[in-house]
Amino acid sequence: MTERSAPTSNEAAPDAQGSPGLENLLTEDRRFPPSPEFAAQANATADAYAWANADRPGYWADQARELLSWSTPFTQTLDWSDAPFARWFADGRLNAAYNAVDRHVEEGRGDRVALHFEGEGGDTRTLTYADLLREVSKAANAFAALGVGTGDRVAIYLPLIPEAVITMLACARIGAPHSVVFGGFSAEALSSRILDAEAKLVVTADGGFRRGKPSALKPAVDEALEKGAPSVSHVVVVRRTGQPVEWTAGRDVWWHEAVDAASSQHTPVDVDAEHPLFILYTSGTTGKPKGIFHTTGGYLTQAAYTHLNVFDLKPETDVYWCTADVGWITGHTYVVYGPLINGATQVIYEGTPDTPHRGRWWEIVQKYGVTILYTAPTAIRTCMKWGEEIPGNFDLSSLRVLGSVGEPINPEAWMWYRRVIGADRTPIVDTWWQTETGAIMISPLPGVTETKPGSAQVPLPGIAADVVDDDAQPVPNGGGGYLVLTEPWPAMLRGIWGDPERYKDTYWSRFKNIYFAGDGAKKDADGDIWLLGRVDDVMNVSGHRLSTTEIESALVSHPWVAEAAVVGATDETTGQAVVAFVILRGDVAEGNAADAATVQETLRTHVAKEIGPIAKPRQILVVAELPKTRSGKIMRRLLRDVAEHRQVGDSTTLADSSVMDLIAQGLAKPA
Ligand code: PRX
Repeated sequence: MTERSAPTSNEAAPDAQGSPGLENLLTEDRRFPPSPEFAAQANATADAYAWANADRPGYWADQARELLSWSTPFTQTLDWSDAPFARWFADGRLNAAYNAVDRHVEEGRGDRVALHFEGEGGDTRTLTYADLLREVSKAANAFAALGVGTGDRVAIYLPLIPEAVITMLACARIGAPHSVVFGGFSAEALSSRILDAEAKLVVTADGGFRRGKPSALKPAVDEALEKGAPSVSHVVVVRRTGQPVEWTAGRDVWWHEAVDAASSQHTPVDVDAEHPLFILYTSGTTGKPKGIFHTTGGYLTQAAYTHLNVFDLKPETDVYWCTADVGWITGHTYVVYGPLINGATQVIYEGTPDTPHRGRWWEIVQKYGVTILYTAPTAIRTCMKWGEEIPGNFDLSSLRVLGSVGEPINPEAWMWYRRVIGADRTPIVDTWWQTETGAIMISPLPGVTETKPGSAQVPLPGIAADVVDDDAQPVPNGGGGYLVLTEPWPAMLRGIWGDPERYKDTYWSRFKNIYFAGDGAKKDADGDIWLLGRVDDVMNVSGHRLSTTEIESALVSHPWVAEAAVVGATDETTGQAVVAFVILRGDVAEGNAADAATVQETLRTHVAKEIGPIAKPRQILVVAELPKTRSGKIMRRLLRDVAEHRQVGDSTTLADSSVMDLIAQGLAKPA
């Protein structure tokens, strides 16, 4: 249905990839009004929409003054004169780490727990804000002693342990933009990110714990640097698992030697509001990941504002838990900056939800009395599959707000989340945003919005979003089209690192003066927004963004592969799954080199090595031909039909219409 309702006008146009269970979304009529008790205590109020509408920049300026401490107050709010390059609060100065840590200690909140860390093996650490101040200051001094100065880039390749948060904040403290690379990415992916950002320092660990076993990280750093990385002068290594590591004298430094010995006194460096805070690489529609970069003042304002209002955070009493890794934008905004700026107490957990048992998450909720939980639909669907008796064994009564992010949440998963985890009582906030938007853009407000299972509903106060047709005209209620953002917002990306043209092309060229998000969406009869998935060559697997082109490039870099086409096929648990169609080179295809099972396994391993295990195709189908239009564009829509076992749609624009029959026949043969 999402396939057929995709907002496309012609064959060559991209089509919405959709997600499971969205079929009935426009007939979904369940409604959940806020309870009077929740509404009475909520941070958010309904009149915020009208205030913000009356003066959008002014509304954000109020938030920036209220939520952040500025060493030099700003007098300018938004400068859009060089659109699409925005400047927010540009003449103000501040420091992100000061806002996240120091001021809480200075204002008497030093004893409040900032982080409850739970290691996968059950080891725990508790860091108060005072502890965090000491550790961040020491790390900042250690990094500075290794030559890192304001403006230098630092690559971070760590498990989800306190040092990841400490490192990000230590970088922010010296004004050194960080580039966190998810620990599940390969040496190859790490190398390209280190090179693109010209990182001076890499911070890593010997390894982390994953599914009960140590999983090494340092070898990937060694391999990445062996490929050549002239900018990197040092590698700081946290000892986490104790596994043996190779050591490059003069380059490698143990964290416990460099940081533990450093002074705990450090003065945060004030930077301009528009100073880059971090770079985070994300998949686009081409093979090369984009270094999305965010700056300081605007990003922190919206991070703090959304964290406070969308989750109804009460910093004195709540225990907040966002299950994301810091390798993703959700971990940046809703594990590090949002919660810490707001002085929250939060849980971070290193491992997987089923180690050592499938109730681990719920055990953590019970243990720490988690009140706000923020996770992804894929995790919810996995728990549904495991069965509700598992969460039923734990006391989840502390929970009062549940959040969802990363992909469309199907109404059944939403209902299950509310009923089983939220005891039919908690508001659910389905939050739409992107690496590029920096912070939540579209979401219900708990205590204010009557929620609808499966819909992210309305832009937040101060945010302007719409659904438009091919001519950039807003669609009427009931219509579908492309999701766009029509006004600049404080946490918006400031560009693609080193590539301003690509920034303009990717986001601002599809429609004049409005931001094209890459998502298809519909408006229901009330004007509420329902997200339908990507309309470009980007897939969403377990809430992680992957580029079809990037995986295709990885596949064709293997000597066996002549050509490859990748699609995201609907998957009950992961939302989408990677399915690859490959044409083998002549000699391999003739059966000399390998049987189908060996081809599958070899190419899956190859993709894991080139990009990372998350990009491994679920399935690799060997075909003799690929369906292409006369202009040579692969018709992924048809391949998706095959991958999803549907009847193949209209193929009249194929250059050779017999190709689909060939593919179908080939697949019918036993492997
Ligand atoms: O397709 C949308 C989907 O995730 C994309 C952004 O991916 P990324 O930059 O990795 O950030 C993920 C975490 C913010 C979007 O273009 N997406 C994210 N949240 C939702 C969503 N789709 C539907 N509903 C959501 N709540």
